[in-house]
Amino acid sequence: MSTKPITITPPATVVEWVGGAADGHVRLLDQTVLPTQVGYIDCRSTEELWDAIKRLAVRGAPAIGVAAAYGMVLSAREAAHEAKMSGRAFREVLAEKAEYLKSCRPTAVNLAWAVERARRAAKGVAAERAAEKILTEAREIHREDAAMCRAIGEHAAALIRRCSGVLTHCNAGALATAGIGTATAGMYVAHAAGHAFCVYCDETRPLLQGSRLTAWELSQAGINAVVITDNVAGQVMREGRVQLVITGADRIAANGDTANKIGTYGLAILARHHGIPFYVAAPVSTFDLSLEDGSGIPIEQRDAEEITEGLGRRTAPDGIAVYAPAFDVTPAGLITGIITDRGIIQPVTGDKIREKIGL
Ligand code: MRU
Repeated sequence: MSTKPITITPPATVVEWVGGAADGHVRLLDQTVLPTQVGYIDCRSTEELWDAIKRLAVRGAPAIGVAAAYGMVLSAREAAHEAKMSGRAFREVLAEKAEYLKSCRPTAVNLAWAVERARRAAKGVAAERAAEKILTEAREIHREDAAMCRAIGEHAAALIRRCSGVLTHCNAGALATAGIGTATAGMYVAHAAGHAFCVYCDETRPLLQGSRLTAWELSQAGINAVVITDNVAGQVMREGRVQLVITGADRIAANGDTANKIGTYGLAILARHHGIPFYVAAPVSTFDLSLEDGSGIPIEQRDAEEITEGLGRRTAPDGIAVYAPAFDVTPAGLITGIITDRGIIQPVTGDKIREKIGL
């Protein structure tokens, strides 16, 4: 296994806290304008951050979690001020702000996980000191996420090294995390070790995270990336161009059922039909062992306009009904293995998951 430090070119800083706890703010790489522009947006209030997450300026389960943890520093400052002005209890106001942040995108469990962790960090702390405590915790969540990505990469690299072609969906890359990504982590590690391979990036309708983001970050790093429209995946498999599929995850239930970007379920079925291993890569923070199976995972619905006007012009009749789930659930039985920072879970069963992730 490689122990060389992996650097990604350019090392885009997806999320960061700028300044101190009392006067700082959250800075986000604005993913809505990639790949044609590299720009940043500054969020100075809980509402601004909520809006940035909703608009997918920051997206990807782990990156949303890190951003929300920093967002809780803003919330703590606001809650201290509001409590003083209204006479309400600081903790009560902070809890309301935490719920508000969590409501933003319901599927990725990392969001609620990080917000709750940040809230716990301020437990028993005076209102004036809460922001500082939460900032320390958010920095720790940020650091841990980068380390988890690297560990996933070490476990996944051996799988990548056996392949000349890999297929991925959406963006579970550096842009979706605080590190080298989850689905892409093994690609970066194998590439750094000198292995040559090609990554087929599903375009990922409707918001094009695959073509706008994954293809961009992989090609910036010198990895051979090919964009395909989502409906080409079966053909690519039939032609023998890929020997492996790796995707990310937004939430994994106790039995291994996995929510990820809409279209992942279909890919898993295609992979099974063609006898191609289908792996999910995710850190422990993406598991939700409180859910027995995938039927309990809340699925975010997106606005119709993202489908009907997503490409900069109207592509469907005015007033047409649209069904726009942002995620689907792939049953555990279709998943060959789950690559976590603690190793690979294979076969994907409740017992194996509890062994690796459970207490
Ligand atoms: O809607 P998005 O862009 O936030 O969806 C992202 C995904 O589905 C990713 O695969 C998942 O969050 C894992 S990111 C490491």
